[in-house]
Amino acid sequence: MSNPTEKVNALIEEINVSNPSDANALEQFRIKYLGSKNIIKPLFAEIRNVPNEEKKSYGQLVNRAKEAAQNKFDRLKLSLSASNNNKTSSKLDLSAPGDPFKIGSPHPITAVMNKISDIFQRIGFTIAENREIEDDWHNFTAMNTPEDHPARDMQDTFYLKDSTEMLLRTHTSSVQSRVMTSSKPPIRIIAPGRVYRNETISARAHCQFHQVEGLYIDENVSFADMKQTLYYYAREMYGEHTKIRLRPSYFPFTEPSAEMDVTCFICDSKGCNVCKYTGWVEVLGCGMVDPAVLENCGIDPDKYSGYAFGMGVERQALLLYKINDIRLLFENDIRFLQQFKSII
Ligand code: PHE
Repeated sequence: MSNPTEKVNALIEEINVSNPSDANALEQFRIKYLGSKNIIKPLFAEIRNVPNEEKKSYGQLVNRAKEAAQNKFDRLKLSLSASNNNKTSSKLDLSAPGDPFKIGSPHPITAVMNKISDIFQRIGFTIAENREIEDDWHNFTAMNTPEDHPARDMQDTFYLKDSTEMLLRTHTSSVQSRVMTSSKPPIRIIAPGRVYRNETISARAHCQFHQVEGLYIDENVSFADMKQTLYYYAREMYGEHTKIRLRPSYFPFTEPSAEMDVTCFICDSKGCNVCKYTGWVEVLGCGMVDPAVLENCGIDPDKYSGYAFGMGVERQALLLYKINDIRLLFENDIRFLQQFKSII
């Protein structure tokens, strides 16, 4: 092999066919073709012996040899380290404890809603969920809310665009009419869900919030049944020493109606700014289902009676977690949410 060009061509061929198959062989390859005393270097010097008109193409050829060696080295190094990784992963100790990772916790609203639902599920209530976009009949008419009732006012209710019929439900009581029209007594449901009212957003009020509704319909259901069930709920929710009181109230869909207060669980009824130094906190609205509602929904009011109750979830979350601004519950700021652990 006399002429330098041939030498370089042979070298390129040698590089192309060589196939180092482990780290050692690859290192030998590197030393031979790319190390400080590699065999390509002297070939650059050989340019002296090349005729002038071939010098340029000769230089390019030697460069190609160098590139071929570098490319081959890079490629093999990569594939060797990939197969090494595979080897190590097959040696993994699968019984070793994993890396600790952060687990989330329920949103305070979900936690409170779950807790309320759980308490009623324990005594035989089942969860009923239904639509948030509701028609006027299920939200108002069936619930004995007359046409001129202020709750229907455009200022309170979000109607869908250009509609006087479809709206965002203003209370979970719409689930009462949904369930009563689609199933037969006995009915024993708890309906947690989101509701909407056109309220000015402030620290105390929001245009979306959550309620939990309860409905029990059967033969001979009495006000005393309701009172005892709500007393059970209050003790489970706020502690076994909790007392309740029912104040007469008004809702279009219940008669008689009441609002329930519980002894203040913040100050133990000693008096604080939450209970406004009365020792009592209002937690829910309730009453005996108005016979007109039963009739509207196809249930015979002479045979059946029932009670219903409904409560706001945010207010309870604010009280239980001592949060002073309802808006925090909807901003989903992770720094805020991280502070809560489930309460059930
Ligand atoms: N729907 C009523 C409200 O939004 C609460 C309620 C429900 C009252 C069931 C009585 C019976 O305020």
